[in-house]
Amino acid sequence: MVKLSPGLLQQLLLSTPAVLAAITVDIDNQDSVKAAAAQVADDLMSSFYHGDEPGAVVGILPGPPTSNDPEGYYWWTGGELWASLLELRSHTGENKYDSVISEGLQFQTGENADFLPANWTATAGNDDQGFWAHAAIIAKESGFADAGSDKPQWLTLAQNVFDEQAARLLSGEGNCSGVLRWQLFAFNNGYNYVNTLSNALFFNLGARLAHVTNNQTFADTASKTYDALSSLGLVTDDYEVYDGIDQIKCEDPNKFQFSSNAGTLLEGAAYMYNKTGDDTWKTRLDGLVDRTIELFFPGGVATEVSCEKNGNCNKDMYFYKGILHRSLSTTMRVAPYTAAKILPVLKSSAKAAASTCTGGDNGRMCGYQWADGKFQDDSNAGTQLSVLNALVSVLQTTNVQSSTTGTGGASGTGSSTSSSPTGSGTAGSMGSNVGVSVLSLIGGLLASSLII
Ligand SMILES: *[C@@H]1O[C@H](CO)[C@@H](O)[C@H](O)[C@H]1NC(C)=O
Ligand SMILES: *[C@@H]1O[C@H](CO)[C@@H](O)[C@H](O)[C@H]1NC(C)=O
Ligand SMILES: *[C@@H]1O[C@H](CO)[C@@H](O)[C@H](O)[C@H]1NC(C)=O
Ligand SMILES: *[C@@H]1O[C@H](CO)[C@@H](O)[C@H](O)[C@H]1NC(C)=O
Repeated sequence: MVKLSPGLLQQLLLSTPAVLAAITVDIDNQDSVKAAAAQVADDLMSSFYHGDEPGAVVGILPGPPTSNDPEGYYWWTGGELWASLLELRSHTGENKYDSVISEGLQFQTGENADFLPANWTATAGNDDQGFWAHAAIIAKESGFADAGSDKPQWLTLAQNVFDEQAARLLSGEGNCSGVLRWQLFAFNNGYNYVNTLSNALFFNLGARLAHVTNNQTFADTASKTYDALSSLGLVTDDYEVYDGIDQIKCEDPNKFQFSSNAGTLLEGAAYMYNKTGDDTWKTRLDGLVDRTIELFFPGGVATEVSCEKNGNCNKDMYFYKGILHRSLSTTMRVAPYTAAKILPVLKSSAKAAASTCTGGDNGRMCGYQWADGKFQDDSNAGTQLSVLNALVSVLQTTNVQSSTTGTGGASGTGSSTSSSPTGSGTAGSMGSNVGVSVLSLIGGLLASSLII
């Protein structure tokens, strides 16, 4: 059943019970937005998440893509899924996903409690690991109950990732220093690429750890990371945020712009401003917010400008507008003065986003080209998740109680490492997916004619 504003819902219930209807939403009415977000989340989980079914891997969207299954999702999108549901939770009070979130995150923590589980380590980039850490810090910030005492805490997980990545910052290999490579291993494509996203996620994580723990080390490292990105020209004085740079030559940034890079960076800047109150951070935050709105919200509707109009977005990129919306929403929370600029844009964009939710068998799956205001492409987990984030981004936060103290930790079902019976894919087959990561695009993207 479709969730509409309470009044409309009642009317519908009184008339035709079996009607298929699109998501409709009154963007200025919090209850209406909450109802729509709840429906979009339900459709997301029931259509795309199978980790709670026999034989499937817990914690991830089915994937990765292989030649046999090109529709698969990359591993990082699991972290993004949980981050989004945690945000839904803290904006609507929805706690029915608590155990699936907790179990999903815990299942992918790996033996060293650092979100590098054995299955995925060989193909992981710093950004992939960063997205999972991002979910963990959101869990910590929003007071999501830690799993059982035998499981790593959300804060520990986030800190472990930060410490590992801090130890990976380049010094003296090639000309780039103070930044992270994209990939962890030399045998993966992208090892010699410094991508902004890995570094923006690291910066963002440091800023948030500083905020949560009050430990100055995190803030200092975050600050240096921003400076390094800036000195490499990956963030310019005009607040263009470029995609990355060759690690060895360390010149001529790749000038494609993606909303996930800009959003992640500006959200981190908001935390730094919150922590320090410094004018420097305010200037950066304002510059990033202004340029991000100008570039990625033409006509007030989020648009992935580097790929959307010419239909070149890859599987990963369908998730980016959700990241963009969430980062701006969090920015309003930690730097409230920015809301006057941000909220109107999030509203017009979320409204457009919801207007695409007329697809699929149920007549309400969400599409991608929000500015066109209609569903016209296949829905996938990325499109659905982006619309969810867009809706959640215009909601105020609420205090949520954890549904049960036993969430995650005490659950009798498939807890952690030993739930294995015969998954279909073997760990071995993963090795052939080289360079799977957020932007498998250095080759792909540069080859295609993307315009900015
Ligand atoms: C602050 O964080 C850093 C980095 O994780 C850690 O090495 C240091 O021990 C922490 N300091 C305190 C006082 O907890
Ligand atoms: C590093 O930069 C210097 C000065 O611009 C240049 O001469 C050198 O070739 C660069 N190193 C590499 C490995 O590209
Ligand atoms: C810092 O963030 C908190 C939310 O975490 C917010 O309540 C507070 O107003 C922010 N402080 C400033 C100076 O903006
Ligand atoms: C690793 O792969 C095996 C085989 O597919 C699967 O059973 C297990 O759940 C996976 N673990 C993680 C953490 O993805």
